[in-house]
Parts: sequence; C-alpha cells; structure tokens
Amino acid sequence: MSPSSLDHLYSKSACCAVPSAIREINKLVDLPDMKSLAGGWPDPAVFPSKDILRIASEQLRKNADQVLQYGTTEGLAELRQELARLAAKRYGIECSADHILLTHGSAQGMDLACRVMIDPDDVVLVGLPTYFGGSGAVLACCGELCGVEIDADGINTFQAADQLQMLKAAGKRAKGIYVIPNFQNPTGATLSLKRRKDLIELAATYDLVIFEDDPYGDLRFEGDHLPSLMALDTAGRVIHMRSMSKTFAPGLRVAWSIGPPEVIRKMVVAKQFVDVATNTLAQYILLEFIRSGLLEKRIELNNKYYKRKRDFMLEQLEVHFPEEVQWNRPAGGFFIFVKLPGTMDATELLADAVKHNVAFVAGAPFFIDQSGIHTFRLSYSQSSEAVIEAAVTELGKLIKQRL
Ligand SMILES: Cc1ncc(COP(=O)(O)O)c(C=O)c1O
Repeated sequence: MSPSSLDHLYSKSACCAVPSAIREINKLVDLPDMKSLAGGWPDPAVFPSKDILRIASEQLRKNADQVLQYGTTEGLAELRQELARLAAKRYGIECSADHILLTHGSAQGMDLACRVMIDPDDVVLVGLPTYFGGSGAVLACCGELCGVEIDADGINTFQAADQLQMLKAAGKRAKGIYVIPNFQNPTGATLSLKRRKDLIELAATYDLVIFEDDPYGDLRFEGDHLPSLMALDTAGRVIHMRSMSKTFAPGLRVAWSIGPPEVIRKMVVAKQFVDVATNTLAQYILLEFIRSGLLEKRIELNNKYYKRKRDFMLEQLEVHFPEEVQWNRPAGGFFIFVKLPGTMDATELLADAVKHNVAFVAGAPFFIDQSGIHTFRLSYSQSSEAVIEAAVTELGKLIKQRL
C-alpha cells in the first residue's frame, strides 16, 4: 500500500497522543524461553474459566435474546444496582445505579473521564512514577501533566500543594489529580489515610477533579482496607474507576466508573460515540458471578495465591540481590519496585538481561520527566516460582557485575 498522504490532516488529539512505552517490552515477553517479570497481567491459573463457561452457557441457553442484544450505554440496570451494593459493602461508597457506568476496562473509564473533564492545556497532577494509561488519557485530550513524587505513603501531598500553588502563580489551569490509591502501578505503594484526606482538601482548595483509579484495591494480602477517596469525599469531586481485570478476567473487559450522576451522564454521552455500550454477555456473566457469591470467594482465593508469589519473590530478592539495591514490600497488588544504587541505568541492565532471556520493565517510562533511570518494576503476578527464581538469580548476577 502507498504511504499515507493524510499526515497533514491528523487531528490535534491524534498528534497529542503518545504510544505506551511498555508495548515494546510486551513483544519481548512473547519470545520463546523468555523469563519475564515484566507484564502486569493476572495469572491465567486463577481465571474462573469453568464458572465463566457454565454461566455463559446457561445465559446463552436461557437468555440469548437479551445477552446477544445491544444494551443501554450506562450498562445493565440490575448489574449497576448490584455494583452499587458492592460499592457500599466493600469500598464504603454510598451510591445508586445512577452513579455507575459500565465500561470496557477501567482504561475506558479514564478515557471517558478525561474527555468530559480535560481541555487542551489543562494540567493534571500525576505520580512520579505513574501508570501511563492514566497519564496517556490526559495527553490524548491535549492536557498537560505535572509530576509529584511518590514515596512509601503514595503521592506526596506537600509537594502536590506546592505544585498547585506554582501552577496557579504561572497562570496555568490545574484541573485534576490522577491517583492509584492502592498498590500503585508501578511502585506498589498505598496512599496513607492522611494523604487521602489531604488530597480531598487540595481538590476543594484548588477546584480539582480527582481521578481515582483502583484496579488493584481488592488484592490486599495484609492490613486493613483504607477508605477510598470517593468514600471520604463529600463534595462530589471524585471519579472512581474499578475493574474486574485483575480479579476476574481482563479479556472480558468489564469495569465500571462511579461518579456524581451529572458527570456519569456526560460520560455516557461520550461513550455513545465510542462504542455504544459495554459487551452485554460479559455484563450478564459478571452479574451472575456476583449474585452467586463467587466474586467474593475468587477475591479471597486470589489474595492467597498472589500473596504466596509476592512472598516468594521477596525471598528471592533477599537471597540474590546485593545489599546496595533497594525494593519495597507491597501489601497487595502485583508489583515490586526496585532502586539500583548510584546512577546504575536500568535500561542498560534490561538490554543485558534480555540477552540472558530475562525481562522486566525499566522505570524511566513511568516517570513523565524520565527521571527514574535507576529504577525498574518487577511483577510476580504471572510468572511461576521457577521463572521468578531463575530471573531474579540472573538479575542479581548482572547487577553484581555492574557494581
Ligand atoms: C493502574 C491501572 N489502571 C488501569 C489499568 C487498566 O485496566 P483495565 O484492564 O481495567 O482497562 C491498569 C492495567 O494494568 C492499571 O495498572
């Protein structure tokens, strides 16, 4: 086919959007014999395949006219009611079906939220580092990003306050904060209760929307669940995105956003022009999965399963990594974040590691200012213990060689 002669016609939004930097690493992960700690995907070993097969067959046998039909853009009314009950029970969020919109992945929730909230040049605060699905959705609306340091207690709210003050002084319009409150991707950090409250206050002071992205919140291995920002918020400033990708099956792409009904209505209108409605069969499967109590059981099983993997990886790191290297102990989720000593470059380490059939994700692409060159993310979610052991052993050797 001849090269495109449409380059000069691209929209502003298409030019603003940047591709995800970890797509490249996904190509590596698929190579045969690659021992990968890169992908943040759930382990297929805990997909509830049999239950999904049974429920899908039953639905298709008894209810084909509905499950194969278009649905409303908001999503199935019974499912939204069920999700509102779940929100109150599990996350302390008091809401009704009118506060809920079913989406194809929480990625779509963030995209729709940005479409209705972000104008070109609006600034959104994001973690340094952060998951680029969130920051990428802001950029795709031609918004701007402002980085705020993440430490063991999540996003640093003192620094966030300073940044907001500086943006205001510079005449910039800060519009929002994107936050992954639990077991953040990529650091594994959980936002402390104090900082959750600080963010709510900052949002009120600076007139901001909080994009609360919480796909890992159910995967808590220890300690108490902290209230979500939405549960703490009394001013209707939070759009909360949940996903079934990490606890159920990401291929079904079922997720939902919770927000003030007026915001949800705007997102519904935006979604009408994107994909009309979320997959109907997937929604019926999730509805039955929740109603029959299988979701709660699955969350419990997953937590035991992934906790074992986390513990195993932590043990391996203790054994094989030199003491100059630092890492965190996440209380849940999929990720451990590693800091190399001095100015050791994780991208160079990755290039070396790949030659030895080991993959991970270098940290720099998660930092909007590219500052984290000495960091990298390890994921224990998808790999077997044998792969974790072999990959960590090899990485330990390569790091020691570079010291
Ligand atoms: C923080 C975060 N948000 C959102 C997503 C996207 O999830 P979903 O499959 O629900 O679109 C991911 C996936 O890795 C993630 O890590």
